This record gives sequence, structure tokens and C-alpha cells, in this order.
Amino acid sequence: TPVAPAAAPPMGWNSWNNFGCNINENIIKAAADQIVANGLDQVGYQYVNIDDCWMASTRDSAGNLRADPVKFPSGIKAVADYVHGKGLKLGIYSSAGTATCQGLPASLGHETADANSFAAWGVDYLKYDNCNNQGQPALQRYLAMGNALKATGRPIFYSLCNWGQENPWLFGPATGGNMWRTTGDITNNWGSVTSLLDQQAGLELFSHPGAWNDPDMLEVGRAGLTDTEARSHFSLWALMNAPLILGNDLTSMSAATKATIANPDVIAVDQDWGGSQGRRVRDLGDTQVWAKPMSDGSVTAVLFNRSGATATISTTAAEIGIGGSTSYALKDLWSGATSTSTGAISASVPSHGVAMFRVGRAGTTAAALAAGTYQVSAM
Ligand code: GLA
Repeated sequence: TPVAPAAAPPMGWNSWNNFGCNINENIIKAAADQIVANGLDQVGYQYVNIDDCWMASTRDSAGNLRADPVKFPSGIKAVADYVHGKGLKLGIYSSAGTATCQGLPASLGHETADANSFAAWGVDYLKYDNCNNQGQPALQRYLAMGNALKATGRPIFYSLCNWGQENPWLFGPATGGNMWRTTGDITNNWGSVTSLLDQQAGLELFSHPGAWNDPDMLEVGRAGLTDTEARSHFSLWALMNAPLILGNDLTSMSAATKATIANPDVIAVDQDWGGSQGRRVRDLGDTQVWAKPMSDGSVTAVLFNRSGATATISTTAAEIGIGGSTSYALKDLWSGATSTSTGAISASVPSHGVAMFRVGRAGTTAAALAAGTYQVSAM
């Protein structure tokens, strides 16, 4: 059973992509402030996650992890209290190895003590990395921490970060893991986003509520992606029921970035199960069609243009898995426009861009589409 309930993929922010090791308690508290100030909590963002480099270079005399006294002089519990005071939850990081990826103390062989520290501090989420693992089997290492987290009695969301090694989609659920990284690290550029995406196709069989595939954190709003590319990244991660863990500097966000990460229709796709994460239903190389069933019987489709020029991309209701009707209602989830169709779905899509449609069968009214509630008539 999973360590923590996780009916929907987690949403939040993590310090690593933007700040790396240059973190401190003020940066973490400011991220919490900005989630609330921008209303991101209102659209589902909940976790404020401290990544690597929060810990002192040695354990204390009792063998317990402690916060770096310069970066986190108030200690982790004070940060957790602050984050909780904003109505948010706090995440923390360790490695299933003898040291973190940045060479700081980690949890292999200290699982019970460290899980108890996290619970005592009020931590709600653990990202558990794979560096310095001493060649021990992943199942053994991740199960030890999963059991230690469960034994604390505190619900702590358990994120396995073992980069897709040893097929975490197979052993992850047995450790209590709520999600598992499927690949190596994302980096701040378009090639990385598309490469990670390509590695997800086929893994949709292994994801389900409580236990999610993790194609890594978001690079939306960071300098390596254009606004068009960032929107594609966000759309496709949402279609895959991926964790939506922001990685940008929330204190200096453009209007375009904010509009992307706060789009409620796209977030709703991510948070809806409907029986499967999204899958690639057509791959022509330069253009692709991805689709995901929704729990109300509608289907969300992403038309993805990977080429260097604008392209018209077309699919059909049947191809995306919602055939059998003579009439469909469509909502473009980025423009908000609604339309009807007898089954053809087509859009002019900019280079590196997407068009994203929610498609319901006849009987779905334009008003229901606009409200995000769909009526599916008998076929
Ligand atoms: C690994 C993880 C990253 C990040 C760094 C921190 O590379 O995969 O997500 O946590 O370690 O050192």
C-alpha cells in the first residue's frame, strides 16, 4: 500500500531546478508566500519542497540529520510551521545512499532515525534520491524508507527519485512509493523536455491513483524554454498525469508563465484519472497526437508540433478514443474557444507548440464545456 494517500498527482514547487544548492530558509518561505500571493494554492499547488543541500555536513552527536546552521538557522520545524501557516505542506529531500548527490549526509542505514526526524519536524513529503547507493538493490533501499515513513504514523508523500533504474514502475508500489522518477534529470532546454517525453511512451500501463509515473519536475518559466515550449511541456505533463512540481523562481514570474501554470482546465486534466494517464496515439515524428480519457467520458487530446515550422495537425474523435457519435463538442483549453465537430479535430500549431482540446460526445453543451462539466449522451 502507498505510504500516503495520493488520489491525484501532487502539485507544488521544488527548489532544485532554479536554485540548486544555493538555498536557505528565506528562499523556501518566499516560495510559500508567492504560491499564496499568486493564488496558485487556489488552483491546487500545495507542496513547498526543499531539495538537496538543506542539511549540515555532519550528523549530530546522537546520529540525527540536522539542518545547515547557516542556510536554515531556524531549523526545518520552523520552516514547516511557516509553510503550514500558509495552508501549504512542506517537502524535504534525502538519498537512499550514504550521501546525497551533493555529498551531504543521507539516509541509507539511517532510515528509521531520519523518518522520525522528518515526522517530528512536520514534513509532509519526502523526495528520496539514488546517489551513493553502494550498489544495494533499489527495492531493498526504497522499501526500508517506505516502511520507516509508515511507522512514523504521519502521512508523508513518498517520491522515489531513482532515475528509472531497475524499473521503478515495477518495484515502486511495493515500497509504498507514491511516485517514481522514470528517467534521468530534466534540464533547462527543449531537447531535454522532448527526450524525457519520448521515454514516457509505453509507461502509461504502470501509473494509477496513489502511484504515479514521474517524468521529472517542470522547467516552465525558466530561461531555457520559450513561452510556447513551456506551454507544450506543461500540457504534455498534465496529459500524462505527471506530478506538477514547479521549478521556476516564483518571485519573478512573467504573466505568460503565470497563465500557463495556473490554467485550471489544463490542471484539471492532470488531476483527473479517468482510467489511464495520457498516451501517444499517433507518432509521425514531426507531429504527434497524444490523448487521455477523462472520468466524465470526454477525452483530452494534445496535437504536438515538434517541427521547426507551423503545421496543421489533424486527428479524429475515433483516433483519440471517443468514436461512435455523429457530433462532438470541443473546447480549446488554451484559448477557451468552444466549437462543434462531426469528428474531425484539426489545428494550425506553431513550431514546438501544442493545441489542446477537450472533446465530448453529442449532448455536451457549449455551456457545459465552458463550465468544465460534460454531459455524455448515450451513443
Ligand atoms: C539528483 C536528482 C535531482 C536533484 C539532484 C540534487 O540529480 O535527480 O532531481 O534532486 O540530485 O542533488
